[in-house]
Amino acid sequence: MSRGVGKFTLAAAFVIVFAVLSGRSNGDGLQVGFYRGKCRFIDVETAVGAVIAAWHRRDPTITAALLRMQFHDCFVNGCDASLLLDGSNSEKTAIQNLSVRGYEIINSAKRVLEAICPKVVSCADIIVMATRDAVSMSGGGRYTVQTGRRDGTVSLASNVNLPAPSVSVSDSIKAFAAKGLSATDMVFLLGGHTVGVAHCSLFLDRIYNFNN
Ligand code: HEM
Repeated sequence: MSRGVGKFTLAAAFVIVFAVLSGRSNGDGLQVGFYRGKCRFIDVETAVGAVIAAWHRRDPTITAALLRMQFHDCFVNGCDASLLLDGSNSEKTAIQNLSVRGYEIINSAKRVLEAICPKVVSCADIIVMATRDAVSMSGGGRYTVQTGRRDGTVSLASNVNLPAPSVSVSDSIKAFAAKGLSATDMVFLLGGHTVGVAHCSLFLDRIYNFNN
């Protein structure tokens, strides 16, 4: 994993993705600090930050895992944590999601929050806060996130419309446009690939073939 996360690229990309894709989540009325005063004397964002810091100390590659997880959750029916739901035909089982990692990180933050203030903080918001924290811990700049999303209850592999690794540039632009994102937004977001791993088999055909 590259440690030199471009501050501008990642922070700008995620401000854009939140602004556009969050509008489609189950959370009308998103706001900064939604959980303030809703979890006894605990600051929810600080609690999530502490969990993520502990994971990040052990494994800094969680930044890449969470960035990808957030994108894969938000691109399909908005940021509603439907990616986290188990089931024989849930989003997790779709081929585009088979190598998504980091579910245990979100589960651990959720466990901590449920112990402190049950049924208050959504997993959808935990993904967003955790990703923000991990990006910042990797030197990617810190951005503010809105919260107040509700978790979805529908998760179907057949709903997963994430572009495949073989997608052409023009089809990728179309896929992002269908979500209200411009080609410029797409380029910023693809800057998320500054970090993380990709299996050679998924891009080998393109390295020496510039006609794709
Ligand atoms: C056209 C859209 C996209 C395509 C086709 C795509 C494709 C891929 C592929 C093939 C991998 C490697 C998976 C593997 O080898 O297991 C990957 C990894 C990754 N993607 Fe994307 N991606 C797209 C958009 C995005 C966006 C918008 C973001 C961030 C906002 C993102 C963040 C990541 C990250 C961080 C990884 C590394 C994950 C890890 O290390 O576990 N991707 N992507």
